[in-house]
Amino acid sequence: MTYTSIITGASEGIGAEVARQLSGPGAHLVLAARRLSALEAVAKQCEAKGASVLCVATDVAVQAQCQALVDATLRKFGKIDALINNAGISAHALLQDVKAEDLRWYEDLMRVNLWGAVWTTHAALPALKASKGKIVAVSSLAGIVGVPGRTAYSATKFAMSGFFEALRAELKPSGVSVTTAYPGVVTTNIRVNGWNAKGQAAGSSGLDEAGAMSVEECARLIIQGMQRGDREVVMTAKGKLGRWLKLIAPGMVENMALKAVKADLRPR
Ligand SMILES: NC(=O)c1ccc[n+]([C@@H]2O[C@H](COP(=O)([O-])OP(=O)(O)OC[C@H]3O[C@@H](n4cnc5c(N)ncnc54)[C@H](OP(=O)(O)O)[C@@H]3O)[C@@H](O)[C@H]2O)c1
Repeated sequence: MTYTSIITGASEGIGAEVARQLSGPGAHLVLAARRLSALEAVAKQCEAKGASVLCVATDVAVQAQCQALVDATLRKFGKIDALINNAGISAHALLQDVKAEDLRWYEDLMRVNLWGAVWTTHAALPALKASKGKIVAVSSLAGIVGVPGRTAYSATKFAMSGFFEALRAELKPSGVSVTTAYPGVVTTNIRVNGWNAKGQAAGSSGLDEAGAMSVEECARLIIQGMQRGDREVVMTAKGKLGRWLKLIAPGMVENMALKAVKADLRPR
């Protein structure tokens, strides 16, 4: 038996590790991201574990490329059992530090983090309904609790949570599961790759990375949640606590969030 999974953002970090962990005989993997050579390096690691792999250079910020990704998957493997919407970009900046002429990148970030997942999911939906498949949305704890210095990123991740929560209910009669994953701080390059107040790669992390979760553990939890069809995977004890504490003591949660950012990103 074969199992076909599309993983967006599979050229590094969490997506690449999810691909490696899903690899084995019978695994048909479709790896998508903008950098084809990086995808091909991940593909080699997956093939060594027995997977059949298709790499598709995809910018999820372009709707036609999301459709082309799904079309290429169906041409090669004939079905889609799982879609893991993982591609994402981080951003750190205080709103007051973003110049009006640079605000456009807030829209660009939404295009990658939200619209990329919406467009890919829409294109894959008929195939996922046919297979009674699984959808995963990789959100963030910043999609549960608003984090200072992360207005743009939190907005994209809250939007993802709302979209996929509504879709989960919509798809209930069809047998397609929707799992939203909320990682905390995970040891990848996301904060280095992520954008600063000018919408350019930050080059360094704006978070306190002490105690970050390993990428292996994060990928394992995402796959476990997907396979069980869990509604949500909230990854850390702090995240679980923050979610409920926010209802009864929101001020305390704001203080916890302020503590998590480095001094230069604290509101002045
Ligand atoms: N690491 C964390 O601490 C953390 C915490 C919470 C949530 N998350 C979420 O987890 C997901 C993966 O993050 P990560 O830590 O693995 O980040 P990462 O190491 O920076 O990897 C991001 C991936 O997304 C791809 N990507 C970026 N823009 C894209 C675009 N326009 N089209 C297609 N692919 C694109 C990148 O590939 P290319 O550059 O080749 O396109 C790369 O494969 C993201 O959605 C992130 O928000 C991460």
